[in-house]
Amino acid sequence: MADRLVYGTISTKEAMMLEETYGAHNYQPLPVVLAKGQGVKVWDPEGNEYYDFLSAYSAVNQGHCHPKIINALVEQAKILTLTSRAFFNNKLGEYEKFITEYFGYEMVLPMNTGAEAVETAMKLSRKWGYEKKGIPQNEAILVFAEQNFHGRTIAAVSASTDPVAYNGFGPFLPGIEKIPYNNTKALEKILAKKGDKVAAFIVEPIQGEAGVFVPDKGYLKKCFAICKEYNVLFVADEIQTGIARTGRLLACDWEGVHPDILILGKAISGGVLPVSVVFSSREIMMVIKPGEHGSTFGGFPLACTVAKAALEIVRDEKLTERAEKLGKIFRTELAKIDSPLIEKIRGKGLLNAIVIKPANGVQAWDVCVKLKENGLLAKPTHDHIIRFAPPLVITEKQLMECIGIIKKTFLELN
Ligand SMILES: Cc1ncc(COP(=O)(O)O)c(C=O)c1O
Repeated sequence: MADRLVYGTISTKEAMMLEETYGAHNYQPLPVVLAKGQGVKVWDPEGNEYYDFLSAYSAVNQGHCHPKIINALVEQAKILTLTSRAFFNNKLGEYEKFITEYFGYEMVLPMNTGAEAVETAMKLSRKWGYEKKGIPQNEAILVFAEQNFHGRTIAAVSASTDPVAYNGFGPFLPGIEKIPYNNTKALEKILAKKGDKVAAFIVEPIQGEAGVFVPDKGYLKKCFAICKEYNVLFVADEIQTGIARTGRLLACDWEGVHPDILILGKAISGGVLPVSVVFSSREIMMVIKPGEHGSTFGGFPLACTVAKAALEIVRDEKLTERAEKLGKIFRTELAKIDSPLIEKIRGKGLLNAIVIKPANGVQAWDVCVKLKENGLLAKPTHDHIIRFAPPLVITEKQLMECIGIIKKTFLELN
């Protein structure tokens, strides 16, 4: 007999079958269906409880369905949701003032998804390159780091070095150069050669999707200095690393670097709505004129209200400090696990990963399936890396319980 349903009207089996039949197969989810979320926990339709150690790729830093965000959402939804930018609205300006002061920038351009914000930063950089730097029209170059992840648009996959992301989607965008990550000499070399045509260097301060690659200390600072030397914009994609995740409000804060252009998404809304932003100085932002860029939903009143509430939580609940403290505990405790499957543990704050050394036919995927059976959800990135990124509202007690689950899982697989 089928298990009794606790949440919703559709069982795990049915939900999986429906997605499989009617949805594009552009993801390979772990075999678990989520029907409810609260704080650091999620539940399947049959009522089984799990710790969420993915946080929707670091979008749910404030925890699932944070009551303050949901309240803001519901209250604003009753009054005004979307106006488009054809008119002013009474929430956008207030939000723009709040968020620019919050992150220390002069101006912001609001978008929705991360990929759109990356696209915006690419356009803004190119336009600045032509109008301010004097690059000849249509010759601007954007430099990216290898193994990056900036989203799924044609522009973003043109910058990718991952064949799974770009194969079959050409022709790609011209004017893109790729250099090894964590290699300041490579940046120096390309800028020495082509710097007069380079508008921007676009980089993740920690490469999240690549498997939580933390660059050497000083990398960002040095890259920033090299960019300044060649009048090139330093653009940080902090869509995954930003907003307290790494134990600083921004991962760039670890090195005191203030990017010329900063891209944020995901946790801006606490995972409630797709909200992203691009920040810069007034001088850079003003190269974009009315009609040259936009989005129907970008900066909609509902998003502005939700994002403001979500960012207040980060401050009020001291999520940055929590991420730093709990991250240290997490890595220290994981290092004590004695398993031939664990090759390496790395990360910063509560953005961490275990690199798996496959043994006895056990891969990262199998570890994640076993973790799920033991009540913790994590997802492999590539074949051999498991990312661990719980909501930052996790308590020390809950974290210790989760470490227990991870330990137990590895010992069962030994
Ligand atoms: C660093 C980075 N940039 C861009 C993106 C794309 O964001 P979105 O999926 O919201 O388009 C992601 C998503 O994982 C990301 O981690």
